[in-house]
Amino acid sequence: MQLMEPYRIKVVEPLAITTRAEREQLISAAGYNLFNLRADQVTIDLLTDSGTGALSAEQQAAGMRGDESYAGGSSFYRFRDVVAELTSYPHIFPVHQGRAAERILFTTLLEPGQVSISNTHFDTTRANVEMLGCEARDLPCPEAADMDSDHPFKGDIDVLELERTLSSPNAGGVGLVIMTITNNGGGGQPVSMANLRAASEICRRYGTPFFLDAARFAENAWLVVQREPGYGHLRPYDVAQEAFALADGCVASLKKDGIAHMGGMLALRDAELAARCEQLLIASEGFPTYGGLSGRDLDMLAQGLREVTDPEYLRARAAATDYLAQLIQGAGVAVVRPSGLHAVYVDAGRLLPHIPPHQFPGHALAVELYLAGGVRSVELGSLFHGTISENGTLTKPARHELVRLAVPRRTYTQSHLEYVAETIAAIARNPERMRGYRLVESPAILRHFKCRLEPVPASQFPDFVHANGFSVRQATEV
Ligand code: F0G
Repeated sequence: MQLMEPYRIKVVEPLAITTRAEREQLISAAGYNLFNLRADQVTIDLLTDSGTGALSAEQQAAGMRGDESYAGGSSFYRFRDVVAELTSYPHIFPVHQGRAAERILFTTLLEPGQVSISNTHFDTTRANVEMLGCEARDLPCPEAADMDSDHPFKGDIDVLELERTLSSPNAGGVGLVIMTITNNGGGGQPVSMANLRAASEICRRYGTPFFLDAARFAENAWLVVQREPGYGHLRPYDVAQEAFALADGCVASLKKDGIAHMGGMLALRDAELAARCEQLLIASEGFPTYGGLSGRDLDMLAQGLREVTDPEYLRARAAATDYLAQLIQGAGVAVVRPSGLHAVYVDAGRLLPHIPPHQFPGHALAVELYLAGGVRSVELGSLFHGTISENGTLTKPARHELVRLAVPRRTYTQSHLEYVAETIAAIARNPERMRGYRLVESPAILRHFKCRLEPVPASQFPDFVHANGFSVRQATEV
């Protein structure tokens, strides 16, 4: 037995079972964009771990207690008490999801032209910084660049670079530092407590506000307990408390480690900053005791936040993701090492060296995963991260051509994960026959959500292979 899920199933939902011929039609009609599929055309949905987890019986029961009063509902106070104990922050605002908290905090704190520094900004975080005319600057630690290294904390920020930036003469331009735990944009890697402490201390020394993007705070805490010397005897809850205590506040999507379908929060230490944020909250999200959520959401979140630090739950979640990563590696397909908890990041660039970045190897693998097994994933390569000109030409490829298989919480069993791994293994037996894609329609912003693509015609594929007089496989090996 590889793992035993520490729960049994009370409510079930049928999976869509389709044939390859049906999926070929469906994905073609969807413009070869997996976001355009209907969810009931997908067999195993690993698009995201956000809002896709299964509620517990206790959460459902808590939902029934939801107080839907406009102002002062008792659900808010139950939610606030759970968050206050966990974070130690006195000012707690619910919001409808994580990006709303980002928008409210950044709009209140940043002046146009200022810089936000992070280990890696998540894309909505970056967008909310940039929309204010500010710069989102990532300072990942050097180990983050090596996908094969087993360094335990590749989510860390580069503290030397952080200190250098804050001590430079134009450091006044830095409006805030935000640490993403775990580092989703950086392969789901954790941040060590030593790194959080060092970054917190540097920020305090230079008077720079220091926040957490705490979407996966419990998963980060679990990996600290497992990997960081001096933390093995602590409960994940204690580690999470210690992490929050190091910061001036947090933004968080609670669709991840709140194990709920909707919700987020902004929680702050400083009363004056909180009062300014509250104005914007009321104007754009709702009264501070509901902030865009229903009372039942708040009660389910309060219960989810209690359940998420349960060591047995986290142990099983870590084992599930690690098992999927091992099966995929066993099939000869490289993944980002070491695996975190919320996703496995598959290295499509290495599996498909014959597909050049401008034909989107990650996207080719994601589409093939759907065609071969009805599995939905998300490309995190040149289609998502690359620079693409108005006529659809890739001018700057991404650093890595990855496909993320996000694992929803408490949703799929070991046999579902085995099915996903078998699907990849079947693809990996004959990757050469796969072809790339080209853009046929590409909106100026949020490209990956709305673009349409088509397979590169067979006639054009060999042209590229021989363009330089030798094959692309040789070219990438040189
Ligand atoms: N921060 C991180 C680290 C995230 O992973 C996300 C969402 C957000 C902020 C934004 O939160 O969606 O509630 O507004 N990540 C999802 C994902 C969408 O699939 O990784 P939101």
